[in-house]
Amino acid sequence: MPDHGEGPLEQVSTMGYGDRSDGAYNQWAKDYETDLTQYGYLSPGLVADAMHDYVGGTASIVDYACGTGLVGVELATRGFTTVDGVDFAQGMLDLAAEKTVAGRPVYRELLSLDLTNTIPIEDGAYDALVCVGAMGGGHLAPEHLPELMRTIVSGGIAAFYMNGVAYQNDNFAERFDALEDAGAWRITSQTASNYMAELDRPGMLVLASRP
Ligand SMILES: C[S@@+](CC[C@H](N)C(=O)[O-])C[C@H]1O[C@@H](n2cnc3c(N)ncnc32)[C@H](O)[C@@H]1O
Repeated sequence: MPDHGEGPLEQVSTMGYGDRSDGAYNQWAKDYETDLTQYGYLSPGLVADAMHDYVGGTASIVDYACGTGLVGVELATRGFTTVDGVDFAQGMLDLAAEKTVAGRPVYRELLSLDLTNTIPIEDGAYDALVCVGAMGGGHLAPEHLPELMRTIVSGGIAAFYMNGVAYQNDNFAERFDALEDAGAWRITSQTASNYMAELDRPGMLVLASRP
């Protein structure tokens, strides 16, 4: 049986579409990394590896739903130096602002934005995007993805890592195909893996490019 965990992890894993999770994340922020480390959180490293395989270290990357900056740390560790972060939970962003690797801030800029709204970032502003742990109830739905994809260059790569239960129960495979048919993205691969070493926590890494 997939494991929703307990406490805040369970709370944010079981929200409905249309629910806002920023309050829950603001409350969880100071313990988030301790809890996730205890669960053996793997997806930031998997996504950073994918970025490393697809784009060079000079690429500009936007980290959507960056949280406390765990993905940014993994990207910086792999040599990426131009990474901006976006999230709507200020308590999480405050911790992302403190992240450094080799004495350098991990994020060039951090923006407080609700990604279910129009994003005030220019078309094609970045070479690539990453978005980890932010698809599903209380977070983002497939219909929000075209707006995220708009902010990377044509041919740019996007890496999403999402919970496998939401992927299956909420028909993401079909909805992702529909986005491709609508011209929002071109799916490169969809790879299932467990993303918390200490829990039965199925996930899906989705790589796509902007047409
Ligand atoms: C599970 S955390 C993942 C954080 C980080 N990517 C990581 O892997 O550690 C989900 C993040 O998505 C953010 N989030 C959820 N819905 C959002 C929205 N509509 N706009 C902006 N951020 C959102 C939350 O505030 C939270 O920081």
